[in-house]
Amino acid sequence: MKVTSAEFTTSATNPSQYPEGLIPEIAFAGRSNVGKSSLINALINRKRLARTSAAPGKTRLINFFKINNQLFFVDLPGYGFAKVPLSVKKSWGPMVEKYLKERQNLRLVIVILDVRRDPSKEDFSLVHWLDHYGVNFLFVLTKTDKLSGNQINIRRRKIAGYLKKESLDGIILFSARTGYGKEAVWKKIMEVTK
Ligand code: GTP
Ligand code: MG
Repeated sequence: MKVTSAEFTTSATNPSQYPEGLIPEIAFAGRSNVGKSSLINALINRKRLARTSAAPGKTRLINFFKINNQLFFVDLPGYGFAKVPLSVKKSWGPMVEKYLKERQNLRLVIVILDVRRDPSKEDFSLVHWLDHYGVNFLFVLTKTDKLSGNQINIRRRKIAGYLKKESLDGIILFSARTGYGKEAVWKKIMEVTK
C-alpha cells in the first residue's frame, strides 16, 4: 500500500467528537506499551505521527489519523497499566467500549500482542467482548525483532493455542523496528475496506 498522505485529524473521548462522514476505520487495541502507536507509524512510514513512548500510558484519548483521504486509523489507549491514575482507568472502559460497540464506520480491530508474552486477562476479555458484539478483528504479534525465527514460530503456535485459533491465518507476525509484516497487515486492511 502506497501511503501518500497521513495526518492527525482529532482526539476524542466521546462520540460527538468522532469525525463525521462514512470513511471506514481500522482501530488498534492492546495493552499499554505493546506497540500500538509504533505499529501505526510503521504502516504509514512515519516516525512519529502517532506518539510513542517507552513509558506506558502515553495514548489516553481516541486518536484519529486520516490515511490517503480514504480511511482512518484509530489509535486506542492501552489497557492494563497499573500506574495510570484511577480517574483515567475508570473512564477508559466506557470510552473505548462505546467506540467499539457503536461506531458504524469501524471495519476491523487489530488486536496487538507482544510475541514474547502470553495474552493477559485483559487481552482475553477484550477478545471475548469483540466476539460477543460481533466486531471483526485480527491479531498481530509485534516485537518479533526481539526473538529468533525459531522462537517466533514457537510463540505464534503457543499464542494461537491460548486463543483457541486453529488456523494461524489471523495471527500476523510483525515488527515496527524492521517493518516485517507490514504488507500482511495492509492486505487485511485492504480486504475489509474495499
Ligand atoms: P500506549 O500508548 O502507552 O498504550 O503504548 P503503545 O501500545 O502505543 O506503545 P508504543 O508504540 O508507544 O511503544 C512502546 C515501546 O515499545 C516504545 O519504546 C517502542 O519503541 C517499543 N516498540 C514498539 N514496537 C516495537 C517493535 O516492533 N520492536 C521493538 N524492539 N520495540 C518496539
Ligand atoms: Mg500509544
